[in-house]
Amino acid sequence: MTRPALELRGIVKTYGATRAVDDVDLDVVAGEIHALCGENGAGKSTLAQIAAGKLAATSGEIARAGTIGLVRQHFELAGRLRVWENVVLGREPQRGARLDARAARARVSDLATRTGLHVDPDALVESLPIGLAQRVEILRELDSGPSVLVLDEPTAVLAPSEAEALFATLRALSRAGTAILVITHKLSDVLAHADRVTVLRVGRVTLRADAARTTTETIARAMVGGDLPMLPARAAVTVRKRLVARAIGTIDGRLRDATFAIGAGEIVGVAGVDGNGQSELVDVLAGMRAHTGALALDGDELAPGDPRTRIACGIRTIAGDRQRDGLVMAWSVTENAALGDQSRTEMRRGPLVDRAARERRARAIVAEFDVRTPSIATPVAALSGGNQQKIVVGRALGFAPRVIVAYAPTRGIDIGAAALVHARLIEARNDGVGIVLVSFDLDELFTLADRLVVLCGGTIVHACAREDFDRPRIGAFMAGLSS
Ligand SMILES: Nc1ncnc2c1ncn2[C@@H]1O[C@H](COP(=O)(O)OP(=O)(O)OP(=O)(O)O)[C@@H](O)[C@H]1O
Ligand SMILES: [Mg+2]
Repeated sequence: MTRPALELRGIVKTYGATRAVDDVDLDVVAGEIHALCGENGAGKSTLAQIAAGKLAATSGEIARAGTIGLVRQHFELAGRLRVWENVVLGREPQRGARLDARAARARVSDLATRTGLHVDPDALVESLPIGLAQRVEILRELDSGPSVLVLDEPTAVLAPSEAEALFATLRALSRAGTAILVITHKLSDVLAHADRVTVLRVGRVTLRADAARTTTETIARAMVGGDLPMLPARAAVTVRKRLVARAIGTIDGRLRDATFAIGAGEIVGVAGVDGNGQSELVDVLAGMRAHTGALALDGDELAPGDPRTRIACGIRTIAGDRQRDGLVMAWSVTENAALGDQSRTEMRRGPLVDRAARERRARAIVAEFDVRTPSIATPVAALSGGNQQKIVVGRALGFAPRVIVAYAPTRGIDIGAAALVHARLIEARNDGVGIVLVSFDLDELFTLADRLVVLCGGTIVHACAREDFDRPRIGAFMAGLSS
């Protein structure tokens, strides 16, 4: 047998008392797509960073044949630079002593076309929604032509068609001899696209299998060490309207003429490829952006607001980019759990902050969502991505919201925790909350939504009720093939 392109032996990584990675062996051979699965905090990102040489292991041995590229779970892109500049950064084509911008742009355009990861090479990265930023991050690593490519949850914010295109690209690379390790929570992708799968649980390997000879149930059990929570039954939808949007749009025209209503106790799913008006829609509802058209909450016209006043009237947002909009990374779990609720009477004693109430709130979220953290005083920067996400979700569900605007709420959450979030969202719905659910995962939309609207090119191109959900039809509207 040929030597693996990446060989990890007895890798251990400790953070204080936490054994994030605990004696892991892993091989990835040239020509294979190897999936790495495990629940939130299992040690996947830590292992990926150690494999890529970005993080030192506490002990263990690493052997690599050739160069390694790492697509990170939380991207490190230069926001003030353009897409093409980010992709070729450090590898810029030269003409004489100068950067050949034209050649660089052409190289990036060509790579985007070949891989199906379309993005405007001249866009400023800071202006991109997270799904497009993800494409840039992937393009940058592909551009370096590594012999081992590690991808940490690359499909979490991609639409199904984009994820398919990415896996097709990965397969082509693996045929050409690249060894690929891909971290994912989407077990259907593992079975459809991987050759082998390794599962971690609390830092240790709990399963090694050929993808062709295993099942999602086997992988799920190895991940969570038991059964998944069940979804609650859905109560009947009431006719009372919570939120009515009439012809809302943004000044820049990225969202246009969106008219829809959300009932009390209804989940309206928003399907579409990221970058088609979803983030604008969420920003408008959250009060983060000026808009045209009108919004009404429980029959009252909503004044153009800021996020604070929207929270005060019961509109809560689960941000798409948790690290940018949802959390203050250097702050503790307790402080983040109170974010947006600081001025609530429940969280104050007269003019003073009620520390005990804040800590109770943080403990409640930690318990309800099984947030893996050493303590509520720990900065959220030290939590794994999925555990950070659980705090954002738990916060939005507190204090009896009237409307929840959720943008990819289970992004990066493991299947056990995702099932828990789904159950909580359905409970909130059954209690009369109106929920706008933007998701790039059709399975999630089909599981949760009472109705669906499809956004394409900034407008609603299709709307349908749960009885009429049809995957190919919705896929065609998402891709702009139907109108
Ligand atoms: N810088 C750090 N300081 C302290 N603890 C850390 C740090 N980074 C990670 N950890 C801990 O190490 C463990 C593994 O984290 P890691 O990010 O590797 O998990 P993961 O499997 O990638 O999870 P997720 O699916 O949520 O992304 C977690 O318990 C986490 O809290
Ligand atoms: Mg991770």
